[in-house]
Amino acid sequence: MRVIVCKDYEEMSKKAADIVAGQLAMNPKSVLGLATGSTPVGTYKELINRCKDGTISFKDVTTFNLDEYYPIKKSNSQSYDYFMNDNLFNHVDIDKANVNIPNGEAADAAEECKRYEAKIASSPQVDIQILGIGQNGHIAFNEPEEELYSETHLTGLTDNTIEANARFFEKKEDVPTTALTMGIGTIMKAKKIIILANGAAKKDAVAALLSGKITTASPATMLNCHNDVVLICDEAAYN
Ligand code: F6R
Repeated sequence: MRVIVCKDYEEMSKKAADIVAGQLAMNPKSVLGLATGSTPVGTYKELINRCKDGTISFKDVTTFNLDEYYPIKKSNSQSYDYFMNDNLFNHVDIDKANVNIPNGEAADAAEECKRYEAKIASSPQVDIQILGIGQNGHIAFNEPEEELYSETHLTGLTDNTIEANARFFEKKEDVPTTALTMGIGTIMKAKKIIILANGAAKKDAVAALLSGKITTASPATMLNCHNDVVLICDEAAYN
């Protein structure tokens, strides 16, 4: 795993945006895997700026998001659908027909997971997958468990994750307790993975990731099995 330690969040975001922008320059029809949460917001802001100044274009880009709460209405301001429009898609020249996010409104979660996995499988391979990391080492919503799932699935959220995400909701009880998420195998199919981490709260998860040990107790450690992963973090998250 390549590790890039940056002095702060801004530098981390710029570094990540540089890699994504380089990919889009090389192949305007790139496929990007995207994450939500606080961590990638700065990277998305950078990409928006570069799109506005004409350095990059999303016109022919396809995207697949990692996860979505379930059930949730797309119009809910806490849905990941809403988040992506608000933080990226509404500000760049992407064709929304090429945007893919698990459907939190689907009537049948199992069917939706099958549909999403098949859509990813039928698309050209994801060129770059952007990931954040949970305080407990989760990636997407693959939470620490005895067994991890390979493919897109419906999952329960741990208390730690509900607690961490409560900051976006009025109260903790409003945080959905289940979600649709790509599995570890789905994520690992990407050609390149960029995992971002900032702030001291991510120190333990980053330490586990860099320990070289692989354990389902810290799902991000599975990334040690992938041959092109870049961890970009700030000093506070780095031990
Ligand atoms: C988001 C996702 C999550 C977050 C993680 C970190 O799509 O899949 O795994 O990346 O919970 O969240 P933040 O960035 O808010 O600390």
